[in-house]
This record gives sequence, structure tokens and C-alpha cells, in this order.
Amino acid sequence: MKPLAAGNWKMNGLKASVSEIMALKDRLDGTAPACDVLICPPATLVMSLADAAAGSVIQIGGQDCHSAVSGPHTGDVSAAMLKDAGASAVIVGHSERRADHGETSETVKAKAQAAIAEGLVAIVCLGETLAEHEAGDTLSVVHAQLNGSLPDGATGATTIVAYEPVWAIGSGLTPTAEQVAEVHQAIRAGLSAMTSAEEAHLIRILYGGSVKPSNAAELMAIDNVNGALVGGASLKADDFAGIIAAM
Ligand code: 13P
Repeated sequence: MKPLAAGNWKMNGLKASVSEIMALKDRLDGTAPACDVLICPPATLVMSLADAAAGSVIQIGGQDCHSAVSGPHTGDVSAAMLKDAGASAVIVGHSERRADHGETSETVKAKAQAAIAEGLVAIVCLGETLAEHEAGDTLSVVHAQLNGSLPDGATGATTIVAYEPVWAIGSGLTPTAEQVAEVHQAIRAGLSAMTSAEEAHLIRILYGGSVKPSNAAELMAIDNVNGALVGGASLKADDFAGIIAAM
């Protein structure tokens, strides 16, 4: 399965950041990356980055969408709006949204289904907090989030799962290769139970949390790791190109 290098810019980026996409385009020009490439900027930049990335391998995605198609939801963005602006995917259920906006797995599932209904790929995020990790609850937390958040009828074409331990995000810490392997294997088994063994092997499982050019190759070599969801290191074209090269 072709891996995915996905960048999550979070709440970073102004109009001038279009230059980073141009720089990434230049870096990738003439290379044939061994992975798919996706950048998820803030909603304000989806359209300009999609325009800038046109004709390249770089796809653009959103960071969140509402579960409704339209309506009285001040400040929210629908999947149709992202699609209209040029997005091909959307992240749902990032731990920062689960924490900052009280999103439950039920909400996340509804968002993923809304995204898929509009033809977007849903990137469903899961991950335990430090307290849960230290209590030895990682697998049960991840299982509960997967069970609650995976959209009905998920397939490899519509759905990507991202495992992001909350304590590894922006901290410079990463789990050991054994820990990543154990969780990704458990997610694969969960996907098999929820879809089918065949379909489960078509659903990409990304690792996220302090992925950098220097550790990407090691993380990507782990069984059942089918790509990376990258925060900080996706903001600079040089760093992200380094991660793409490591895929
Ligand atoms: P960092 O790569 O900055 O740790 O962020 C990971 C993340 O949350 C991506 O969604």
C-alpha cells in the first residue's frame, strides 16, 4: 500500500505561506515520491494552497469539518465547503479538537461520515494521553476511540486512521518502535473486526507525534505504519521534503 505523508499545519499559516507550497513543489519536481503527499492548512488557506499545488503531487486537505452539510453553525466549515475549496481529505478527531472542543468519538464519527459523503477522505485520529499511557491503558483507549470514531462502511479508499499519542505531539518524544508496532497491530486487528480482513489491509494507519526528517525512516519501517501525520515539521518545505524522502 502506498504510504501517505500528511502535514497538519494546525493554526499556523498566512497568505505568505503559499511560498512553502511553491518551495515544496520545487523540491518534489522531477522526483517521484514513493508516497502520497497531503498538506492540511487552516481553512482560510485551503483554496490558495489548492491553487498553488495544482498540477503537482501535493494534495490539500482540511483540519476539521462539521457533521452537517450547512446551516446555523457559526464559525464552522462543512465538508462540502472544503471540497469546493479544493480539498481532497480532512482530518477529524485530532486530539487537540477532542481536548479543546470536547469532541467525542460519536461527533468524530459523524464528521468522518459527512466528509466521506462529500467525497473527501476522512483521516480519523486516535491516541492516548500521557496519564492513560502511564496507567497502561493505551490499547483500551485506542480501541474505544477506534470503535466509536470509525465511519460506517470504512474502506481503504475513504478512510485513513492516524495514531497520535497525545504525549508525543509537539514534545520531541516518540514511543519506542515496539510500542508503535503494538498499537498499530491492535488498530489493524480492530479494523479487521469492524470491516473485513481484506479491507482492513487497505486502510492506511499513519503514525503522528514528533515525526522529523531524522526519525521518519525508522518510524516508517515499523510494521503496519503506512505513513505519517506531521505537525511542526510540515511547516517548512525542507523538513517536510526530508520526511517525504524517508517514506
Ligand atoms: P508534531 O509533529 O508537531 O508533534 O504534531 C503531530 C500532530 O499533532 C499532527 O497532527
